[in-house]
Amino acid sequence: MTNMDEGVTRARAVRRRLVREGPPWTREHEGDFETVTVPERHCDRLRDLIVREQAERVVEIGLAYASSALAIGEALAAVNRPFPRHVVIDPLQEREYANTGWQLMCSAGLDSIATLMAAPSSIALPQLLAEGFVADAAFVDGSHRFHEVFVDLYYLRKIVRPGGLVVVDDDWWPSVHAAVNYYELNLGWTAVPDAFPAESAGAGPRGGKAARCKAFRLPDPSFEPSFEDFRAF
Ligand SMILES: C[S@@+](CC[C@H](N)C(=O)[O-])C[C@H]1O[C@@H](n2cnc3c(N)ncnc32)[C@H](O)[C@@H]1O
Repeated sequence: MTNMDEGVTRARAVRRRLVREGPPWTREHEGDFETVTVPERHCDRLRDLIVREQAERVVEIGLAYASSALAIGEALAAVNRPFPRHVVIDPLQEREYANTGWQLMCSAGLDSIATLMAAPSSIALPQLLAEGFVADAAFVDGSHRFHEVFVDLYYLRKIVRPGGLVVVDDDWWPSVHAAVNYYELNLGWTAVPDAFPAESAGAGPRGGKAARCKAFRLPDPSFEPSFEDFRAF
């Protein structure tokens, strides 16, 4: 078995166990894991997108129970580029989640390529930008407040390379959807069709059929629009 196969197998085994048995520790709220974590079928799609992208460097916002982080780690192991890097940002991993997600990443051996930044994304992302970090893709599942998602996307637009991918969870929440909508309407982000399945009717807080996760391709080359061209969102 090659190192690549071993990395993929190990990450997949930890993901499978997490789906089957749940995490070794959860907060006391009823059904917290199921409420907070990204479902397996969406994680599989996320992994497939990152593999298709042949991504080497990924930024992720929101670790919690690490379902999505393990899927991204599995993808990076499968892609097997020379310098894989997975930066995960979460200020509450220790205080709210007793480091459960990070320990799962370590048990999958993914701490060899992943770094946890224990700061709010509004602090961590400008730091990454200042360091000159360039990513091929990003996954956004942190604070769901409009202004914080908007700021996340503001910085990711500068960190993810032109033509790269930004995937957003919980687009069915109006606060998240409104933030994303600005970038789609004003900055040339284009939705990747059929990247994620639309949920069945009645799913999501707004009801009706809607995709929970959405993937966007950034324009290449990147551009700055005139303020006169602003389109209300
Ligand atoms: C919905 S959970 C993420 C679930 C995770 N993707 C999974 O599959 O288990 C949201 C996470 O965002 C984190 N978070 C909240 N505010 C944040 C902020 N300002 N910056 C970064 N992460 C934040 C929370 O600590 C929590 O872990």
